Amino acid sequence: MTKLSYIAFDGTRFDVEAENGSTVMENAIRNAVPGIEAECGGACACATCHVYVDEAWTDIVGEPEAMEEDMLDFAFDVRPNSRLSCQIKVRDELDGLVVQVPERQG
Ligand code: FES
Repeated sequence: MTKLSYIAFDGTRFDVEAENGSTVMENAIRNAVPGIEAECGGACACATCHVYVDEAWTDIVGEPEAMEEDMLDFAFDVRPNSRLSCQIKVRDELDGLVVQVPERQG
């Protein structure tokens, strides 16, 4: 299991145990993290699973692929550390990952 932390927009922290191979979005939904909508169910087609990757983790998480980059154009308040959480697969090296939920989606 890999530990992930979500910081909701109001500052509430959600620490969860995630299975490798699942996505950061799926674990947010499973643990009722507010602000992650994931309307398309993880198909990289909605941009309502937008998160900000904590600065300490951006290199390890890596850059978005072209399709995700295009979809991020539809997200609200995109920043250099923006990612679509359905496109981040949980793996051992992400143990301790922190992501923040934006003020709103879309
Ligand atoms: S859930 Fe739709 S793009 Fe991530």
